Amino acid sequence: MSDNAPVISAKNVWKLFGAEPEKYLANMPEGHGFDDIRADGYIAGVKDVSIDVNRGEMLVIMGLSGSGKSTLVRCFSRLHEITGGTIEIDGQDIMALSDKDLIDLRRSKMGMVFQSFGLLPHRTVLENVAFPLEMRGQDGHSRRERALEVIKLVGLEGREEYFPRELSGGQQQRVGIARSLAIEPDIWFLDEPFSALDPLIRREMQDEFLRLQDMLGKTIVFITHDFDEALRLADRIAIMKDGAVEQCDTPDQIVLNPATEYVRKFTEEIDKARVVTAGALADASITAKGATVPAQATIKELAASLVADKRAEIPVAAVDGTVVGGMKRQAALAVLLGDAA
Ligand SMILES: Nc1ncnc2c1ncn2[C@@H]1O[C@H](COP(=O)(O)OP(=O)(O)OP(=O)(O)O)[C@@H](O)[C@H]1O
Ligand SMILES: [Mg+2]
Repeated sequence: MSDNAPVISAKNVWKLFGAEPEKYLANMPEGHGFDDIRADGYIAGVKDVSIDVNRGEMLVIMGLSGSGKSTLVRCFSRLHEITGGTIEIDGQDIMALSDKDLIDLRRSKMGMVFQSFGLLPHRTVLENVAFPLEMRGQDGHSRRERALEVIKLVGLEGREEYFPRELSGGQQQRVGIARSLAIEPDIWFLDEPFSALDPLIRREMQDEFLRLQDMLGKTIVFITHDFDEALRLADRIAIMKDGAVEQCDTPDQIVLNPATEYVRKFTEEIDKARVVTAGALADASITAKGATVPAQATIKELAASLVADKRAEIPVAAVDGTVVGGMKRQAALAVLLGDAA
């Protein structure tokens, strides 16, 4: 398998809920939208989604409640049988796998943190965290060692023998995170993993996932309602509406060039200056001279110099010093003042 091949490749994936979804989809008139489908008694949980996730990438999925985020991610691990389309994991069509091979795939490669925590109520924190290691056949001693390590990492040291019902919502969520960290899977599906955490521990957990992604090249699909979290973590953001992906792009492209009116409205509240970099505004056809600004700097970071530097066009340099183009000061100021693009 080449390193450039996507880890997850979804093509024209549909997940319809209703009485006879396959039959309905096969006979559905061309161009039938979400509301038409609903009028026929079906819910389009996922509607014709095609998306690739690359190795080492963090894809963040956003969208309003009910837009299909959880359903899509459940399709990726075949927790849902899809109604149409194909999903490949490392080039393997997962719909073609036997039950046993599917379980093996999940155990060996996939980690999941569910919105609902999904803990085993009659097992302690330690036993819950060690559970996937047990399923993998790891011996008792190394299981315990590893579980203790990740319990410490999520800040639950001293609570190893508690039962889930004895923990707060945020603590239960951390058990779920620890359990998925324990096995260091290649592919991580995280469904609002930090929603119940307070800001400080939430940030620590974000850092931990960033570290793992960076160090170990993990592929992560992450659902969140929190734009700050998305901007901090995402390589790309997919925005869903009514089961469909409206746009999947880098954060700066999402805010600079929203593909639809819906995406524009959805991202309206974001402080664009924190997302857009000088590199994103640099135009290769503009040859500006003199002192450069770094391409990776955000417009927010450049705010002071943008106010002071009155040149109409400012050269932008990549990390290695080569000039990649010129940035119009007007455009940068527009981003800074919030009336961009
Ligand atoms: N098992 C199911 N049976 C019937 N309908 C379902 C089922 N699971 C999900 N749906 C419907 O599919 C749509 C998408 O649900 P989903 O849980 O994926 O939304 P979401 O984007 O994750 O929302 P939230 O942000 O609230 O978690 C909803 O309309 C939901 O009611
Ligand atoms: Mg959900």
